[in-house]
Amino acid sequence: MISLAFYNMKGGVGKTTTAVNIAYLCAREGNRTLLWDLDSQGAATFYLNIESDVDIKAKKVLKAYKELDRLICSSGYENLDVLPASFQIRHLDALLEDEKKGQKRINKIFESMAGSYDYIILDCPPSISFLSEVLFRVVDCLAMPVIPTILSRNAYEQVSSYIDESSHHSVKILPFFTMFDWRKKIHRDAFDQGTGDGGRFLKTCIPTRSVIEQMGIHRSPLPVYSPVSPYIASFEGVWKEIKVACCQDDG
Ligand SMILES: Nc1ncnc2c1ncn2[C@@H]1O[C@H](COP(=O)(O)OP(=O)(O)O)[C@@H](O)[C@H]1O
Ligand SMILES: [Mg+2]
Repeated sequence: MISLAFYNMKGGVGKTTTAVNIAYLCAREGNRTLLWDLDSQGAATFYLNIESDVDIKAKKVLKAYKELDRLICSSGYENLDVLPASFQIRHLDALLEDEKKGQKRINKIFESMAGSYDYIILDCPPSISFLSEVLFRVVDCLAMPVIPTILSRNAYEQVSSYIDESSHHSVKILPFFTMFDWRKKIHRDAFDQGTGDGGRFLKTCIPTRSVIEQMGIHRSPLPVYSPVSPYIASFEGVWKEIKVACCQDDG
C-alpha cells in the first residue's frame, strides 16, 4: 500500500480539490483506493457527497484499526472508499502530541488498511501541527499544491527545508503548481524556477478554471460532472507524475 498525503500548511491552495480528483483517477485505474479526510472542515467528505451516520470523533478515528468497516464509507464510485471527517476530529491533533505514540497509532491504522487498499490518499488540514509532524514521518509521499505567488512559495520553502533538514523524515516531497495562469509572467517565472535545475516541482500544473471550482456545486470529481473537460488532463498529468515518483526507489 502506498500512502500519499496532500499537504500544505496554507489553506485554499487546492489540496482538497486535487486529493479528491486524484483519488478518483487512482480508483478509476482499478487501484483499491481509500481517501482519508483528515480536515475537520470535511471538504473532501462534502465534495464526494458523503453523509456518514457514524459519529466520527478523534478518539474513534485513532482506533480506526478496530472498526474500519464501520467508519469507512463507499463513495459510490468503483474502488473508491472514504474515511470521512467530522468537526469532532479537530481534537485529533492534541491526541498526537506524543510524536512517537502518534506515529505508532497512525502506522497501526495504515497496517490495518494495507490488505484492503493499494493507495491511501490523505487530505490534510492546513497547518503545521502534531498531526503533520506525524504524517511527515509515516507517509510515503507528500504532494504539495503551491499557488505560484511569493507567499505561497515561501510557505513551501519553509516546510520543505524543515523536512529536508530533519534526519527522521524520509518522505518524498512532490510540489506542483495549482491555480496556474500561463498568461502571468510571475507564474511562468515560478514554473521555470520550480522545474529548472535544483527545482523539484512536477511538470504538470493545474490551471485556474471555473469548471474546477464548480466541484462544490456538483459534489463529485471533475471527470464525473464534466467528462470532456480538457482540464481532466491536468489532474491526470499530476497523478501520472506522482505515481512514477511514489514508485521510484531512491535506494
Ligand atoms: N484549479 C482551480 N481553479 C479554480 N478554483 C480552484 C482550483 N482549485 C481549487 N479551487 C477553489 O479554491 C478554493 C480552495 O480549494 P481547496 O481545494 O478547498 O483548497 P485547500 O484544500 O488547500 O484549502 C475552493 O473554492 C476551490 O473550489
Ligand atoms: Mg482542504
